[in-house]
Amino acid sequence: MGSAITGWGSALPDKIVTNDDFAARLDTSDSWIAERTGIRERRMGGTTAGLAEEAARAALQCAGREAADIELLILATTTPDRLIPATSSALHDALGCRGGAMDLNAACAGFVYALVTADALLAARGGKALVVGADTLSRVTDQDDRSTAVLFADGAAAVVLESQPGDSLLLGADLGVDGSSTSILYADHGGYITMEGREVFRRAVRAELESINNVLRMTGVAVDDLALFIPHQANVRIIESVNAKIGIPMDKTAIVLDRTGNTSAASIPLALSDAADRGRLHDGDLVLLSGFGAGMTWASAVIRWGTGPVRSPRTPR
Ligand code: UT7
Repeated sequence: MGSAITGWGSALPDKIVTNDDFAARLDTSDSWIAERTGIRERRMGGTTAGLAEEAARAALQCAGREAADIELLILATTTPDRLIPATSSALHDALGCRGGAMDLNAACAGFVYALVTADALLAARGGKALVVGADTLSRVTDQDDRSTAVLFADGAAAVVLESQPGDSLLLGADLGVDGSSTSILYADHGGYITMEGREVFRRAVRAELESINNVLRMTGVAVDDLALFIPHQANVRIIESVNAKIGIPMDKTAIVLDRTGNTSAASIPLALSDAADRGRLHDGDLVLLSGFGAGMTWASAVIRWGTGPVRSPRTPR
């Protein structure tokens, strides 16, 4: 059995926090934040389960499916609402899904980890899965610390992944972690995010470059064959640096961070949903996803976009 993404959806809190809002109370400025990160505004508010539910409902509607059709729910998140139980339990109940549910914490690489996990489980047993990335980082960020407050924000996005005859949407994936890097980006129980920004930047570029090269080599896909690159939305300078070294043009790159800030596990699916909504994804397109985050984790995948025979027949290539 193969697989396809048959629906997608996203959710952002109503409250918009602009760079000027920070500049009004912290020693920072719109120009510093925009030039050093590419972020202009971000959304804050809500719970991880609440945002995840809204995004999941939108994805189900897009796929023309009911929650009761879902047999596997994976919630990628770094900010569960409670320590115990997993936030996916509350989400499973709120939606009315069937089958199993679990949280997956691989930080900003979490959505790609979750997509790869769901695809492998569907390949083994068939069915339909909801893969959600949701984070409420503003709750674990010191809003008086200019070095992190301007970066981290809240949001969620989801896809419906279905078994279908044919090939898996996943051509290949490269997952990794360097556990010796935990001290450069972490939050303890009850504490705020602590980050050595410059060092995270340096290691992120290095890890992403290596991971992307690995997945391109593994799948035999050339950079020119890619229709779209959907990177983790942390800092536009990280994306520009990786793109320049790999040779991916910025106009083939999905960017939402100017409006969302860094939403960790939600960032890649938010950019994917935005690209799909804007008609930037077509059947047969080869799409590169790549993220990195606390851990340090990283994950890159090449997928072949195609919503499957039910919604729109795949055209043979
Ligand atoms: O999701 C994965 C996790 N996170 C990331 O990927 C973040 C990776 N890192 C970054 O994006 C960047 O390193 C930052 C945006 C965090 C910082 O940008 P930078 O160009 O690396 O700046 P820096 O840390 O080298 O700081 C330069 C200066 C410092 O002042 P001094 O020491 O030169 O006087 C900072 O104190 O900028 C200062 N600074 C700020 N100034 C105005 C730091 N934050 C701010 C701010 N506004 N918000």
